[in-house]
Amino acid sequence: MSKEITLTINQVKQTFAVGKKEKLLDLLRRAGYASVKHGCDAGDCGVCTVLLNGQPTRSCMILAAEAAGQNIVTVEGLSKNGNLHPLQQAFVETGAVQCGFCTPAQLLTAKALLDQSPNPSEDEIREALSGVMCRCTGYVKTVEAVQRAAAALRDEAVPPVEALEQELPADAAEVTLPKAFYRRNGERAPLPPLIYTPPEMPKTRVVGKA
Ligand code: FES
Ligand code: FES
Repeated sequence: MSKEITLTINQVKQTFAVGKKEKLLDLLRRAGYASVKHGCDAGDCGVCTVLLNGQPTRSCMILAAEAAGQNIVTVEGLSKNGNLHPLQQAFVETGAVQCGFCTPAQLLTAKALLDQSPNPSEDEIREALSGVMCRCTGYVKTVEAVQRAAAALRDEAVPPVEALEQELPADAAEVTLPKAFYRRNGERAPLPPLIYTPPEMPKTRVVGKA
């Protein structure tokens, strides 16, 4: 048996017939909000996170009927007039998106954090993002992205983005790649410099910054 509920999703009031046991996650996905990901379905992975009245909430852990009358925000509601939200922009600029499966939940979790705390410490950012499991990034770039977005939202200057792609001239003597990092024992450590001579470019050395 279904029940009619009205809730506000990304500032639009909408009415749905929902099943007694239907989860908010399943309602949002069938309503077309594909950014809300279906992961463990058990409250563990966090990829189904949406903002419920501004609070990060695992949508697999509440019934759609419980969200009646509430305000929901999904990533589809972050950009305005075709412009990315500063968090989305920073995720792109820092290369914080890999497979992207966790990214909507990371963005919404970070938004809730910055709404409460415009200048969070790295530990606070890590603590907030730890609720959303990311199998790809190691959280290095996501933390950087949140710090960058926080600075931009405080109207502070942010450093220009280093090019993630560059066209290599076939006769270049040397090309230096952007500095890369990984985490070792919880610390940010630079990747050892890479020196490589592409076989099709015998005169060019490709060097990673130390
Ligand atoms: S799908 Fe909801 S926490 Fe994993
Ligand atoms: S970017 Fe792949 S799971 Fe986070």
